[in-house]
Amino acid sequence: MRRLNNKNIIIGITGSISAYKAPDIIRRMQEEGADVKVVLTEGGREFITELTLQTISKNQVHSNIWDKEAELSMGHISLAKWADIILIAPASANTISNLADGKANDLLSTIILASQAHKYIAPSMNVKMFESSQVQRNLLKLESLGFHLISPDNGSQACGDVGAGRLAETSEIIDQISNTTIKSKFNDRNVLVTLGSTREYIDPVRYLSNRSSGKMGGAIVDELLLLGANVTVVAGHKDIDINSKAIEIKTNTADEMYEEVIKNIKGKDIFISTAAVVDFKVREFSQEKIKKKSNSMTIEFIKNTDILNEVSTQYKDILSIGFAAETNEHEKHALEKLENKGCDAIILNDVSDSEIGFESDENAVTIYGKKFKEKIEKNSKKIVGREILKIIEKNLL
Ligand code: PMT
Repeated sequence: MRRLNNKNIIIGITGSISAYKAPDIIRRMQEEGADVKVVLTEGGREFITELTLQTISKNQVHSNIWDKEAELSMGHISLAKWADIILIAPASANTISNLADGKANDLLSTIILASQAHKYIAPSMNVKMFESSQVQRNLLKLESLGFHLISPDNGSQACGDVGAGRLAETSEIIDQISNTTIKSKFNDRNVLVTLGSTREYIDPVRYLSNRSSGKMGGAIVDELLLLGANVTVVAGHKDIDINSKAIEIKTNTADEMYEEVIKNIKGKDIFISTAAVVDFKVREFSQEKIKKKSNSMTIEFIKNTDILNEVSTQYKDILSIGFAAETNEHEKHALEKLENKGCDAIILNDVSDSEIGFESDENAVTIYGKKFKEKIEKNSKKIVGREILKIIEKNLL
């Protein structure tokens, strides 16, 4: 099994003598299935050439924050979004200090600030520098900010000193970044995710729907893929592109979404229902556009099939997770849904708050299981998606 299959990895190479080891790290990541792009700092350029890195990585090397052509398309932001994993190897004391201070004074630090990828830092420097209280304090700070530290090796150093500070072995670096994937209980699981809104047509030009953009579902899909899951998406209407590594099935109405879920649910281990399925459809669809004949009109609606409830009750061996979009008495309604829909957990979000829930880039949720309740504070949907999966993994897998 290739442990980094389909992963997009940025390697940040900074000013340290062990930059000469970077081509080997790049090659090993590629052998494990990753697409690797290099971001080289000014210091890094003193130790290794762009040409070497471009030849090995088979991608353009990025080094200049002021590159006018790249920045025409917001180069630093697209790189930040592209990456699933950012590895800084070797990480110099200067880069570590910059990152701990949240500086954005070169391309690498800017990308790191803008990216929500999993971040790994592999320091390499003289033993005395590494042991200095400043570097240790900065590393602790980075760990508290979510960076994974790949500790340096002990041994004799290029400068003649002996001790901790040598860049970790390539195999150790690969093992640690692969752990994101292979240690996850989502690795190799088959997951079906619904997302977006359905449309319930009244006549050929009018429909009932809601404001779901698919962003929350899309964030969960991205994170599942990063953790090594095989993901099928049954999508309604949405404002986002689905990660191309997932299988995408497009649907329009709640009936179509239900049909596609049932067609594709066999063999799945997990069902995550983020879609905002419209609860009702018209009893009688008008084949012709309805004319304005009077000042009021009555349309009769009937209930759509509850897809989450069907999956939870018909496929008991599949772990099923729902969302609850609530505007009032949030906890009460969420707990009722957990019970009535028969799912294993329900994720409550407040859709009356315009800063979270529908359409926004952020969310804040509480997850209710039969035996647990966990809150995720307001954050980007990407981070909330990551935290949701951690909670599911801890409590339900
Ligand atoms: O897409 P975004 O703009 O990012 O917004 C995210 C979101 C607010 C849509 C999402 O976080 C969310 O809350 N999704 C569920 C929306 C919803 O329909 O909630 P509900 O409380 O009405 O339904 C409860 C659960 O039953 C949901 O998991 C829903 O997918 C499911 N359901 C509902 C009705 C139905 N007929 N079939 C279903 O499967």
